[in-house]
Amino acid sequence: MTRRLRPEDAPTYRDLMLEAYAAHPDAFTSSPSERQVLPMAWWEGRLSTDTHANECVFGAFDASELVGVAGLSFQTREKLRHKCSVFGMYVRPSHRGHQLGDGLLCAVLNVARQRHGVSLAQLTVTEGNRAAVALYERHGFVTYGIEPQAVAVPSGAVTKLHMWLPLRA
Ligand SMILES: CC(C)(COP(=O)(O)OP(=O)(O)OC[C@H]1O[C@@H](n2cnc3c(N)ncnc32)[C@H](O)[C@@H]1OP(=O)(O)O)[C@@H](O)C(=O)NCCC(=O)NCCS
Repeated sequence: MTRRLRPEDAPTYRDLMLEAYAAHPDAFTSSPSERQVLPMAWWEGRLSTDTHANECVFGAFDASELVGVAGLSFQTREKLRHKCSVFGMYVRPSHRGHQLGDGLLCAVLNVARQRHGVSLAQLTVTEGNRAAVALYERHGFVTYGIEPQAVAVPSGAVTKLHMWLPLRA
């Protein structure tokens, strides 16, 4: 089952993201140390379901266990409001390869398509992350830029692909 997360999901969402940042330092710009000091209110705010919330996060559940997540963030500045970004895509290793990532990406892109005035989605992904790149390309994302040494990680610095998807014909 995939559904939008709510503020009361914040503790489990936080646990899953801290697991993701620790397990995949090359894939995420956030680090566990940077994020674990943030108050629970920060995580709750990210999951706000207010009509005018600028972010939303969907979760995939196996029974009651949260096993995957994907987020969407809308730009707020007047001249950037036609854009949104996919962030924080993660599926627990035990649940990969079962189209959960696919369902999560569909869910956030549906929200993007329904938002008045939003015409494109963007994301960044680490070069060489074949599973993630395959998933994004399957949904129509195209690479428009390559950023060398984009993020400093324990193994050095990784290159980021910048991808975009027009949401309307
Ligand atoms: C990327 C990720 C979310 C995909 O989750 P998932 O639930 O396994 O995704 P899906 O099952 O919907 O699809 C995965 C696709 O990638 C493919 N894939 C898996 N591993 C692959 C690999 N090493 N090389 C190429 N393709 C691969 C699968 O075959 C599948 O494609 P298919 O349906 O055409 O066969 C998951 O691998 C993950 O959490 N990775 C670690 C965190 C991460 O990298 N997040 C992305 C940050 S941008």
